[in-house]
Amino acid sequence: MAALFCRSAGGLLRPFRLVPCMVAAGRQYTAGQYQYILVEKKGEHQNVGFIQLHRPKALNALCDGLMIEVGRALDQFEADSQIGAIVITGSDRAFAAGADIKEMQNRTFQECYGGNFLAHWNKVSLVKKPVIAAVNGFALGGGCEFAMMCDIIYAGEKAQFGQPEILLGTIPGSGGTQRLTRAVGKSLAMEMVLTGDRVSAQEAKQAGLVNKVFPVDQVVSEAIRCGEKIASNSKLISAMAKEAVNAAYELTLAEGCRLEKRLFHSTFATEDRKEGMTAFVEKRKADFKDK
Ligand code: HXC
Repeated sequence: MAALFCRSAGGLLRPFRLVPCMVAAGRQYTAGQYQYILVEKKGEHQNVGFIQLHRPKALNALCDGLMIEVGRALDQFEADSQIGAIVITGSDRAFAAGADIKEMQNRTFQECYGGNFLAHWNKVSLVKKPVIAAVNGFALGGGCEFAMMCDIIYAGEKAQFGQPEILLGTIPGSGGTQRLTRAVGKSLAMEMVLTGDRVSAQEAKQAGLVNKVFPVDQVVSEAIRCGEKIASNSKLISAMAKEAVNAAYELTLAEGCRLEKRLFHSTFATEDRKEGMTAFVEKRKADFKDK
C-alpha cells in the first residue's frame, strides 16, 4: 500500500493507513485518499482548506498523480461549505521544481497532443474560492506556473521563481508565457523564459509576481491568516469579486467594466450585501450568512 500521511498534533508527519483523518461539516476527508499531498483544514474556525505538496525526494515535482490529487482536494474544498479560502504550499526547500521531467522524458508528440497532456493542470485557476500560494524554495517551470494560477502569492525570503523549460528544449506549457508576462511585463518575462534564469523572492515582489515576502517559517502561517481574513467575508460575494478581477485578464476595459457592473448590481440581490451595509450603519460587525 502507498505511504499515507497525516499531521499529528505536534506537526510531525506520521504514517497513516486508510483511517479517517478528519471530519468536517458533514464531509469526511480520508488520509488514504492521497499519496502525494497532505490535506487539512486550518484556521481558528477550520475554514481554510490546506493542501501541502508532499513529494520531498523529488522536490515536489508535479507528476500526473500529484496533480490529479490536487484536483480532487480542490473539488472537496469547493464543495465544503465551511471552507472560505484555500492555501497551497510545498516544503521549505521546494514549492515545486516543475513538471516531473522523468515522467515526461519519453513522451511523444502523439501522446501529448492526442492525450491533451496537461489539460487538467489549470484546475486551480477554475476554483471559485480564493486560493493563496505559500511559496518557499524552488518554484520552477510548472511549479511557477502552478503558483501563478493561484490568486495571491506569498513567498519566503529564500524562494526562487523561474521558467527553465528552455534549458530542457521545451517551453512553458501551463500558462507560464501568458501569466508571467501579465504579472511582470514583457521584458522580464522574456528574459526568464529565454535564459531560464531564476529570480529571487525580492525580485519577484518588485516585479509584481509576489504580494508579500516573509521569513521562511512565517509564510504558511501568514497565508493561512490571509485565508482566514478572506473566509470571514461572504463566500458568495468573494466569488463574485474574484470573478471580476480575473475578468481583467481576459476582457477589454469596456467589457470588464460592464461585467463588473453586472456583478456589482447582483450583490444587491443578496442577503449578505444587505447585512454588510446594515452592520456598518448599526456600528457592528457584519454577520454574513454565506461565510
Ligand atoms: C523530476 C526532479 C525535478 C523535476 C528535481 N527533481 N526536479 N525530478 N522532475 N522537475 C529530482 C532530482 O532528479 C533529484 O532526484 C531530486 O529531485 C533532487 O534534485 P537535485 O537536482 O539533486 O537537487 P539540487 O541540486 O538542489 O537542485 C535543485 C534544482 C534541480 C535546481 C531544482 O533539481 C533542477 O534544476 N530541477 C529541474 C527544474 C526544472 O527544469 N523544472 C522545469 C521542469 S519542466 P534524484 O532521484 O535524481 O536524486 C516543466 C514544464 C512545465 O515544468 C510544462 C507545463 C506544466
